Amino acid sequence: MTNKSTAPRRTLRIAMNGVTGRMGYRQHLVRSILPLRETGLRLDDGTLVDVEPILVGRNADRLAELAALHEVPTWTTDAAAVIADPSIDVYFDAQVTSRRAAALTAAIKAGKHIYTEKPTAETLEEAIELARLAQNAGVVAGVVHDKLYLPGLVKLRRLVDEGFFGRILSMRGDFGYWVFEGDGQPAQRPSWNYRAEDGGGITVDMFCHWNYVMEGILGPVRSVTAKAVTQIPVRWDENGREYAATADDAAYGIFEIDGGIIAQINSAWTVRVRRDELVEFQVDGTHGSAVAGLRNCVAQHRSSTPKPVWNPDLPVTEPFRDQWLDVPANADLDNGFKLQWEEFLRDVIAERPHRFGLLSAARGVQLAELGLQSSERGMRLEVPEIAL
Ligand SMILES: NC(=O)c1ccc[n+]([C@@H]2O[C@H](COP(=O)([O-])OP(=O)(O)OC[C@H]3O[C@@H](n4cnc5c(N)ncnc54)[C@H](O)[C@@H]3O)[C@@H](O)[C@H]2O)c1
Repeated sequence: MTNKSTAPRRTLRIAMNGVTGRMGYRQHLVRSILPLRETGLRLDDGTLVDVEPILVGRNADRLAELAALHEVPTWTTDAAAVIADPSIDVYFDAQVTSRRAAALTAAIKAGKHIYTEKPTAETLEEAIELARLAQNAGVVAGVVHDKLYLPGLVKLRRLVDEGFFGRILSMRGDFGYWVFEGDGQPAQRPSWNYRAEDGGGITVDMFCHWNYVMEGILGPVRSVTAKAVTQIPVRWDENGREYAATADDAAYGIFEIDGGIIAQINSAWTVRVRRDELVEFQVDGTHGSAVAGLRNCVAQHRSSTPKPVWNPDLPVTEPFRDQWLDVPANADLDNGFKLQWEEFLRDVIAERPHRFGLLSAARGVQLAELGLQSSERGMRLEVPEIAL
């Protein structure tokens, strides 16, 4: 092992905008960058990369409080100055979606490498423009594709790679939980999520995830048929004020994937959970099936598939849930957000493209946009290929 004190060192200064928010704080600052600040990031050639976060936001008191709590020496409310600062290597954005495209555009124009939450923009046109801008500027750009780094989905992908399923027929995804309206018990998600005019909506929020999940595990998505609805029309915000929930809070999608695979995914903030995890994907193939959640994955091979016979006059004859085998991790799978950060920062140092960049993000924005159009027009829509 290379000795930490004598190994070659580099420092990456990372401006983190939106760290007072749920995702920016919990997943990106606390679960990813602060642990990386403790250990550094060791490259293959032995170099130790130190990461130095700079907290950026709008609320000085909150930033000062977080900076003190986590011993981060630098924070600012002046995002423009941070973007113009030549000593900053990476600009990270976890602000509300509606502020993302403008902030990323400024950072790319200033020559920063960028890492960002999804969705990258509110419209496909803006998302493509960002991808083009980053490509022309030659910066390294990464977009959070966290679900693909989750232990459950890593195991599912491994089963696909090993040919476990035979010919894959379909995927069924079920995502959601009950988000409180906010009158009695406070809501557990920010109120902007439920206002279309502030960039909210479950289709915009989740279809970009589903696009890279389907693409990364099964193949590219070729068509979408969706129905997006607002099931709870009135909610109460962070200050207890009643507001009109103008955005969709449930979306039901059917997607056709290369090779004739049919995926069907329900997304809802208006359902109660009777699953093992908050999201689950079942993949069925001619030789086997598997069900993956965030952490766990179980599988059933053709050779151990029971032969139930439909008879409503009899009680259930099979312990169906017990007939699946656990798929082991066989490795230490760290927090998915942190793993992707590490990969992205290695790409920054090597100045090579990150595998989940702005074009993949644009396809996510495209699927959300087409999903909403499909819902409005009541029809199936093809997903055209995007090129820069
Ligand atoms: N990868 C994932 O699984 C995942 C999950 C949830 C949210 N997200 C994305 O992360 C981003 C942030 O979501 P969140 O749930 O952390 O939201 P949040 O409301 O908790 O945080 C939003 C952040 O943006 C800042 N902000 C800037 N301008 C604002 C404005 N005009 N109004 C309100 N806040 C403003 C806030 O100060 C805060 O730091 C969104 O783009 C969302 O799509 C990703």
